[in-house]
Amino acid sequence: MFMRHSVASKTAQADRRQFAEDVEYYLSQTPRQLPSRYFYDELGSALFEAICRLPWYPITRTEQRLLSMHAHDILARVSPLSTLVELGPGDGGKLMTLLGADASRALTVHLIDVSPDALDAATHAMDDRPEVVVVPHQAMYETGLAEVARHGRSDGRTLVLLLGSNIGNFDPPDSDAFLRTIRAALATRDSLLIGADLVKAERDLLLAYDDPLGVTAAFNRNLLVRANRELGADFDVNGFAHRAVWNAEASRIEMHLVSARRQRVRVPDARLDIIFEAGETIWTESSYKYRPGDIVAMLDRAGFSAADQWTEDGFALTLAEAG
Ligand code: AVJ
Repeated sequence: MFMRHSVASKTAQADRRQFAEDVEYYLSQTPRQLPSRYFYDELGSALFEAICRLPWYPITRTEQRLLSMHAHDILARVSPLSTLVELGPGDGGKLMTLLGADASRALTVHLIDVSPDALDAATHAMDDRPEVVVVPHQAMYETGLAEVARHGRSDGRTLVLLLGSNIGNFDPPDSDAFLRTIRAALATRDSLLIGADLVKAERDLLLAYDDPLGVTAAFNRNLLVRANRELGADFDVNGFAHRAVWNAEASRIEMHLVSARRQRVRVPDARLDIIFEAGETIWTESSYKYRPGDIVAMLDRAGFSAADQWTEDGFALTLAEAG
C-alpha cells in the first residue's frame, strides 16, 4: 500500500480503537456477538483464502467459472468502461478473471477492503497491468464508496463489483440500504455486478461452513486470537467451539462460538469482564442465501434493473444497471 509508515500506523491505531469499541458494544448484546468484518486480520485473510480452496466451499470456484465464461458479455454490456470499483477484492483473483478478457484498456480500479493484507494482495495482482491505475482504500464499504465519489468522475461508465457473496453478510434491512448507498454513488447507466450464493441442500451448506479439515473453525476462532493480541483479552481459545447452523426461516447460515464451560473472560481495552455460561454463544457471522428472484427484487428495490443473470451450481451472477 502506498502509505508512509506514520500514516499506516495511525490507521492501525484508529482501527484498533474501533475494534475495541465494537467488541465492547457487541459482546454486551443479547445474544453476544462479534462483527464478521474482524475476521480478516493477516492470519484470518490467509485462512479465508484457504477456505476458498476447500472442496466443500464451492462459492469461489463456481463464481470464477461464471466470470471467465461471461467476462466478454459483461464487459460488452458496460462499455465504454473507465472505472471499476471492487468491494472486498480478497486476493484480486476475481478481478483478474474479469479483466483477463480485455487486456489493454485504460482503467482506474478502486479496491475497497477492511483488510490491509487483502488490499496488498489485490493491488499486487495488478502489477503486470500498467494500463490499470489501482487506488486502494482501506475502509469499510460505505466509507470507501464516499472516497471514490470524491475522486471525481471520468468520461466512461463505472462498474461496481460486489462478488463472492459478500452481500450475504448484510441482514435484510441493511442489505437494501447498502445497495441504495451503492446506487447513490453511481450515475444512470453505471452498473453493478453482484455474485450471490443460492439456497441449496442443508447438508451442502453446513459442509461449506463446518468443513472436515477444520479450516472454517480456525477462521472463526481466530477472532478470539485477534482479540487476545490486539485488545489484551484473555480468551481461552480452546474453551470455545465452532458451530455452524442453517436458519431456514431467515435463509442464512450462522456461525457461532460456543463456550465449552462456565468461564470468565477479561478484555481490558474494551472494559469488559464477562462470565460465559457453559453453552453460551457468541454469534460471529450471518451468510444469507438467496433464490435467483430474491436478488433481482433486492436490486430493483435499490434502483437497479437486472440486465442479465447467470446461475450455475447454486450460485448466481447478476448484472444490473442503475436506473
Ligand atoms: C466472504 C462473507 C462471502 O460468508 O461465505 C467463509 C465468509 N465465512 N466461510 C461467506 C466465510 C465462513 C464468506 N464471505
